[in-house]
Amino acid sequence: MSDMITELKEELTQLVSAANDLDTLETARVTALGKKGKITAQMKTLGGMEPEQRKETGQALNALKDEIAGLIALQEKALKKQALDEQLRTETLDVTLSARPETKGKIHPITQTMEEILTIFADMGFELAEGPDIEDDWHNFTALNFPPGHPAREMQDTFFLPENPDEEGERAKKLLRTHTSAVQIRHMLENDPPHRIIVMGRTYRSDYDMTHTPMFHQTEGLVIDKNINMGHLKGCLLDFAKTFFEVEELPMRMRPSFFPFTEPSAEVDIGCSRKDGGLTIGAGDDWMEILGCGMVHPTVLKNCGLDPDEYQGFAFGMGIERMAMLKYGIPDLRTFFESDTRWLDHYGFDPADRPNRAFK
Ligand code: PHE
Repeated sequence: MSDMITELKEELTQLVSAANDLDTLETARVTALGKKGKITAQMKTLGGMEPEQRKETGQALNALKDEIAGLIALQEKALKKQALDEQLRTETLDVTLSARPETKGKIHPITQTMEEILTIFADMGFELAEGPDIEDDWHNFTALNFPPGHPAREMQDTFFLPENPDEEGERAKKLLRTHTSAVQIRHMLENDPPHRIIVMGRTYRSDYDMTHTPMFHQTEGLVIDKNINMGHLKGCLLDFAKTFFEVEELPMRMRPSFFPFTEPSAEVDIGCSRKDGGLTIGAGDDWMEILGCGMVHPTVLKNCGLDPDEYQGFAFGMGIERMAMLKYGIPDLRTFFESDTRWLDHYGFDPADRPNRAFK
């Protein structure tokens, strides 16, 4: 090998191994192998050589080219590994750091109250059932014995949606469910009796003031079997209310009411006392309404394929916000949905402290 090539090899090898970052290595590659690089420049001198020398030098230059290219590849690999190692070393996350206390979250009183209600009814053997927020006219009204055009439909300020062209009649008329009672229908149609279900969910009515928000939450209960009477209804609700409000002695009364889907229908009040603007649930000289209920109307049972002479049952529905306000002394319904973190900080619950009643 000529001195020239030996020297060039040394020079380029040094250049490549001295490159300790990818940019410098790229510059070295251009210097060595680029179009205007040193090896290319030597290649250009081959034309003026004698054939024998040209052959020898040409081969030697080609071998050098390959060797330098190999060196560059090796160096590149080493530099990339080094860069990755450096990244891994500097981008560590110390998982042993404790959580920042100021960002600790709270459970919303609605979630808490839903879980409390659910836990109590689950202990009584109720199963959770669900239905869609977007309902149709048939499930929300007709099947529940609201006759077409009947004023009872106007009791609930319904949000109607555009009709669904793929469906027919009342099922094409879409709306945001005005109550969770629609889930009674869905459940009875899709399952065999007996039924013992509890429903938790969002409901919607076009209304907004101190005691109404366009979206709110309801709990619905439904029990259907062969020998169910109003005594079962009252006992079930009394057990629930005592457990929920954590009071041993709780007077309860039922006042006659009207719902198209129950007969007879009732509104349920529990005892309370109001003194100096405060409210205490329990034996007292006053009453507080907590929910609506009744025996499921025979027409509703028939609409769901059940024989009213064989099956009867009860249903009840209550507002979850109202239950939360009564239990936790929250004065204004609208604050539930304002997403004010100071409010949540005050009325919210510790995420580690979830309702979980032991079976009796
Ligand atoms: N769906 C009724 C309402 O929203 C409540 C209710 C449910 C009443 C079940 C009776 C039985 O007002």
